[in-house]
Amino acid sequence: MVKYQLENNNPIAVFDSGVGGISVLRELIRIMPNENYIYFGDSRNAPYGIKKKEEVRELTINCAQKLFEQGAKGLVVACNTATSAAVRVLREMYPDIPIVGIEPALKPAVLCMPHPRVLVMATPMTIREEKFKHLMEQYEEQAEIIPLPCPGLMDFIERGDLKGEDLHKYLEDLLYSYSNNQVDAAVLGCTHYPFARLQIQQVLGDKVKIFDGGEGTAREMKRRLAEKDLLSMRQEKGDILFENSLTDDKKIELCKYLLNI
Ligand code: DGL
Repeated sequence: MVKYQLENNNPIAVFDSGVGGISVLRELIRIMPNENYIYFGDSRNAPYGIKKKEEVRELTINCAQKLFEQGAKGLVVACNTATSAAVRVLREMYPDIPIVGIEPALKPAVLCMPHPRVLVMATPMTIREEKFKHLMEQYEEQAEIIPLPCPGLMDFIERGDLKGEDLHKYLEDLLYSYSNNQVDAAVLGCTHYPFARLQIQQVLGDKVKIFDGGEGTAREMKRRLAEKDLLSMRQEKGDILFENSLTDDKKIELCKYLLNI
């Protein structure tokens, strides 16, 4: 167990395997604009979703440790894959620090109409893990839930390829059994996927309701910080520090671009 001094004006750390967690950071900034943030993407080791759980756990713990050493007063694990591999262990290691993970937003999708057909798109690891199995068990009587591993989808976002023909072709192949409104709702269970939301909507059909866990996760972090009296007291807008395990500036530029679209 490791103890750190937590101060109101310290930053909130946001962690992902790459640039995807920016979809969660933008929700955090929307509801807590006066906070400072450190965004860390482990793009050098991405993708996490096709690795072994133990490896993802170790990578996540190492990144979290560095972020706490930089003075983070709380951590958002803005990666569904890293959450299923490591969030429990992290909370045991740092019981005094607010640590919030993200999971596929299955609940609002299941509740969007009586007994909907819900497609859950996520990395192979997220779908395989116990955490997702438990989540599915909670709702399986209220909906037809279809888990769909999407290996390779995050790579388009990680390359900044958000609109290309290749992405469209990939989605058409991946989603061919569900296109043209064959499901009622889709859950984007990986933080990279909201950046391909328009293309996913196009292929699935315009009647399909699409959900992601970014906003719920941001709200949970606000609640946890408030509970510990750790919300920022500042009146002015906070700062964002972008860091990445790849040392060239391209990923940082991509993060800034994604935050502003
Ligand atoms: N962004 C991550 C998630 O939410 C995973 C992407 C990866 O495979 O690294 O699951």
